[in-house]
Amino acid sequence: MKEEKKVILVTGANKGIGFEMVRQLIKQGHTVILSARHELRGKEAMDKLNQEKLNVHFVLLDLDVEESIRKAVVYVKEQFGRIDVLINNAAILQKQDQSLLQSDWVIIEQTINTNAQAQLKLVRYMLPLLVRGGRILMASSGGGSMTDPVGGWSPAYCISKSLLNAITRHLAYELEGKSITVNAYCPGWVQTDMGGKSAPRKVEQGADTAVWLATAETIPTGKFFRDRKEIPW
Ligand SMILES: NC(=O)c1ccc[n+]([C@@H]2O[C@H](COP(=O)([O-])OP(=O)(O)OC[C@H]3O[C@@H](n4cnc5c(N)ncnc54)[C@H](OP(=O)(O)O)[C@@H]3O)[C@@H](O)[C@H]2O)c1
Repeated sequence: MKEEKKVILVTGANKGIGFEMVRQLIKQGHTVILSARHELRGKEAMDKLNQEKLNVHFVLLDLDVEESIRKAVVYVKEQFGRIDVLINNAAILQKQDQSLLQSDWVIIEQTINTNAQAQLKLVRYMLPLLVRGGRILMASSGGGSMTDPVGGWSPAYCISKSLLNAITRHLAYELEGKSITVNAYCPGWVQTDMGGKSAPRKVEQGADTAVWLATAETIPTGKFFRDRKEIPW
């Protein structure tokens, strides 16, 4: 039987794990929309893929700007008419994010907004385009876990991912009736601009669980994964 090809949107995909996901998904034959918040960075990423003879689509999408989200939805609707998989990959981790008590409030506010609130906003805007049986994936982190050890690094980032995990579970519940699955995953500690050079994982490994969740024949809903296995919240 011929494998079904999907329309997949990946946010923050001009570099890092998102970019690698796009590459792997195109190689599997899916129609992939690479989104980035800066036009030039997005185009440079597209050029890299085109040099590998991989055909990709692009949409400008800055999660911090509601109008940008709205325009991206209009573009996707006009060009593709639907989305099978939405991968909420984009996030920020700021150097100044050192303490919930000492950091400037703006650091905490921006981090929670971009990494959690804006992700929910994007889902709300994209929902009319998501097909029955569609999938929403949230790039989370062990840092957001309530069972992993807490403390020691980027606390605003960590609590933004805890909130994202909570959003994932509630959305999974609310979207069950539409047969849309919602899951979170941790890519592990990966060598990217965010993860830094000391990280033990390469982007190929970091992208693997999301690519699997996007394409596996069946997946559950409302779960948290790492290395293709369910992990505790
Ligand atoms: N790397 C790790 O070790 C690790 C571990 C656990 C979880 N994660 C998660 O995995 C995901 C990917 O991480 P990564 O390491 O690939 O990060 P990265 O290399 O820093 O890439 C982050 C991407 O998000 C984009 N972005 C940031 N703010 C945005 C906004 N407001 N609107 C749209 N795009 C925005 C960035 O765009 P610009 O290029 O324009 O800045 C970039 O494309 C993130 O959700 C991260 O939290 C990573």
